[in-house]
Amino acid sequence: MSEDNDEMVVTPWEVRGKVDYDRLVEQFGTQLITPQLRERLTRAAGGSHFLLERELFFSHRGLDWVLDMYDRGVKFTLYTGRGPSGEVHLGHLVPWLFTKWLQDSFDTRLYFQITNDEKFWFEQGLSFEKVQQLADENILDIIAIGFDPEKTFILRDVEHIDLMYEIAVQVAKRVTFSTARAVFGFDNSMNIGGIFYPSIQAVPAFLHSWLTGERTPCLIPCAIDQDPHWRVTRDVAEKIGYYKPATVLSKFVPGLLEGGKMSSSDPMSGVYTTDTPALIRKKIMAAFTGGRTTVKEQREMGGVPEVCSVFSFFKFIFMPNDRELAELERKCRGGELLCGECKQMLAPRVVEFMEHHREAREEARERVHEFSASRLREEIRR
Ligand code: TRP
Repeated sequence: MSEDNDEMVVTPWEVRGKVDYDRLVEQFGTQLITPQLRERLTRAAGGSHFLLERELFFSHRGLDWVLDMYDRGVKFTLYTGRGPSGEVHLGHLVPWLFTKWLQDSFDTRLYFQITNDEKFWFEQGLSFEKVQQLADENILDIIAIGFDPEKTFILRDVEHIDLMYEIAVQVAKRVTFSTARAVFGFDNSMNIGGIFYPSIQAVPAFLHSWLTGERTPCLIPCAIDQDPHWRVTRDVAEKIGYYKPATVLSKFVPGLLEGGKMSSSDPMSGVYTTDTPALIRKKIMAAFTGGRTTVKEQREMGGVPEVCSVFSFFKFIFMPNDRELAELERKCRGGELLCGECKQMLAPRVVEFMEHHREAREEARERVHEFSASRLREEIRR
């Protein structure tokens, strides 16, 4: 592999090379979630979450501040989002499941942004019709997670721009082209929609405050590649009369192929919510593992869970029970459990999870309006 291919590039629009999370945290200037902070969040939430314990969510900005405010009786709202540029896979569902846990634990509103404008502006060759069709489908996956309909507002940028534009205008005035270029790497070939776009992604962080006229803290659970947006958003927040949004940031969910994350550019790397059971089994059987070349070697030396995609699937999705996971790891390292057997154990869990998700997804078709942000129009203070 050439050095070029190996070089780490992480932006909101591209993730390439081997991701070194320590370096990324340093580059971006975010904080690591310390054991004490994790403990604090767990206590406030009234229970732990395995994605926090296992450090998939590992970094943050201002999470300690949100908890300070919470301790003083000031509640926060949640904000996350989805760019409808393709179908949804497990790597997308994982942070959403964590977001649901936050919503349930803190009984709070969630603003969920669907960036149909962004994907039209940023993805070459994606028609607006296609983006809209993907947005419709992606929204079903979001609803299927089980968010509280009373407290969840799915905002489609194009359709709900009237709810967002006033804030976007405020943000846009305070971000220069030179900042946008430095933070996002825009060059002269970027269309002007793309240059304006970061002001739209900032909006939901302030929307609750704007609607209610009461400054409200906002917590954004998302993958760390979105951090450049929050840097800009936090920078302008106080200048336009709002609190800086806080973030809780995840690593990328590892995919089924060697090294990488689940990526839309390689369908075999991830399990999609539209995959048939047969295709799911096929992908798992073809997955990269930390196994040895021969059974004899594996019996003697054991497997290597830290590089194994099947182990990651258990760790970050399908085995929330710590004791069960420790036992799996022990058997793998000891050469007791072979990769084939391990895959046979994983496959039915994934198939069952997806079957359940698919049912919820079909039921969601009738319920899209219940989650629509258009309800917020009645809340605008006149
Ligand atoms: N830009 C994100 C994407 O491409 C979509 C998004 C908008 C988002 N707002 C967000 C993601 C807030 C996480 C949190 O997928």
